[in-house]
Amino acid sequence: MELPYAEPYRIKTVEPLRRSTRAERQAWIAAAKYNLFNLRSESVFIDLLTDSGTGAMSSAQWSEIMLGDESYAGASSYYKLKDSVKEVMGFDWFLPAHQGRAAENVLMSTLIGPGHEGKGKVVPGNSHFDTTKGHIENRGAHAIDCTVDEAFDPTIERPFKGNVDLGKLQKVFKEHKREDIPLCILTVTCNSSGGQPVSMENIRAVSALCRKYGVPLFLDAARFAENAYFIKIREAGYADKDVRAIAREMFSYADGATMSSKKDGIVNIGGLICFRDEATYRDCCTYNIMYEGFNTYGGMAGRDLGALSVGLREATEFDYLESRVGQVAYLGRKLEGHGVPVLLPYGGHAIFVDAKRFLPKVPKEECVAQTLGIEAYVEGGVRGVEIGTLLADRDPDTRENRYPKLELLRLAIPRRTYTNAHMDYVAATLANVLERRDGITRGYRITREAPILRHFTVELEPAK
Ligand code: F0G
Repeated sequence: MELPYAEPYRIKTVEPLRRSTRAERQAWIAAAKYNLFNLRSESVFIDLLTDSGTGAMSSAQWSEIMLGDESYAGASSYYKLKDSVKEVMGFDWFLPAHQGRAAENVLMSTLIGPGHEGKGKVVPGNSHFDTTKGHIENRGAHAIDCTVDEAFDPTIERPFKGNVDLGKLQKVFKEHKREDIPLCILTVTCNSSGGQPVSMENIRAVSALCRKYGVPLFLDAARFAENAYFIKIREAGYADKDVRAIAREMFSYADGATMSSKKDGIVNIGGLICFRDEATYRDCCTYNIMYEGFNTYGGMAGRDLGALSVGLREATEFDYLESRVGQVAYLGRKLEGHGVPVLLPYGGHAIFVDAKRFLPKVPKEECVAQTLGIEAYVEGGVRGVEIGTLLADRDPDTRENRYPKLELLRLAIPRRTYTNAHMDYVAATLANVLERRDGITRGYRITREAPILRHFTVELEPAK
């Protein structure tokens, strides 16, 4: 008999989960103004809001927590992290930051400007993440999405739907002056288009085009290890290569990277900015010291730097990645088995449920994906997150709502945290909502919203 799959770890610590009733959940979500971010975590049974900072650390990482060196400057934990960054990512220069958006803030302050100097400037990329877009647009600049068209059709199965359309990128480079393009950002894997990877061939080609036009290329490396794994299993010529060697090759084509280490660093908090050249590193140091902290801690405790130094290595081990990406696919197959429409192919960190196909009767003005998120919560205490109209914010110039091509409910799976029995429960929850979807014809309307990144704090009421 062929031996079945089993997780390459065992569980040493457990955290109890509280079950709740449907009536309790209905009251809690109403009190939360129908915003899933406003729920207390105890009111959630299975929390798939995000895979960011929610993973389980290993015993080796917890050991580093105890060994943490809390010196203000030159801590040994910093040097451990420096060695890992060099070994796993190949960069000589880096700055710690307290999380990914803080790294973006420092980098954009340096390359675009600390205030509103961005007017007339553009930053091309592949479906920039919302905080990345926030840091660009808040400075008056525009993020231009150059993702391949097929990324916006959830039914097309292609291996690398995070890729940049080189024609679109070239058009940006031709239509704007070099000094108006401070950088290009390539997000690996591409979260906003469904956790889809970028191929090595595409990274290489984007890099060549950026070099030709003299534009620095930065990777948004939040999920670089999952991207490297997909390259290994999907791209010709990489099957026999080590994941870490693939990751290093990915980074070798870039001038630098920002990273939210809360994802593929498998830590609860942290971020990084990496640089190929010392000059940009030095320019960023000023802002890092002002916003984050001295260059050897950048807003992080020494113990967290130490845990990250181990996490970067663990996240680039094949057995771990096979189990991680495999669990996401397990949930995807279960959901499809129940007839739930999901984005194909499955993402590296999450399954994205196609809310427009799931709830065809809810009007687009009434937050379709958010409506599905609320239904899943009420049904089974499962919390996902809306990747739709609320997240898309308003156009910074016209202030009109932007209706994205896709309305998705993201079910992001924390690393090494839940078992496949939890995944079965999640799939059954969505299946139950699907069964009664004909009765779901109305969604929600906004009663209060912030001018930018509104989804975090938005307040809603049922549309009538
Ligand atoms: N870039 C990507 C691709 C991300 O997914 C995130 C965060 C960030 C940057 C910002 O990093 O949260 O550490 O400040 N994504 C989380 C998510 C919040 O749920 O996908 P951060």
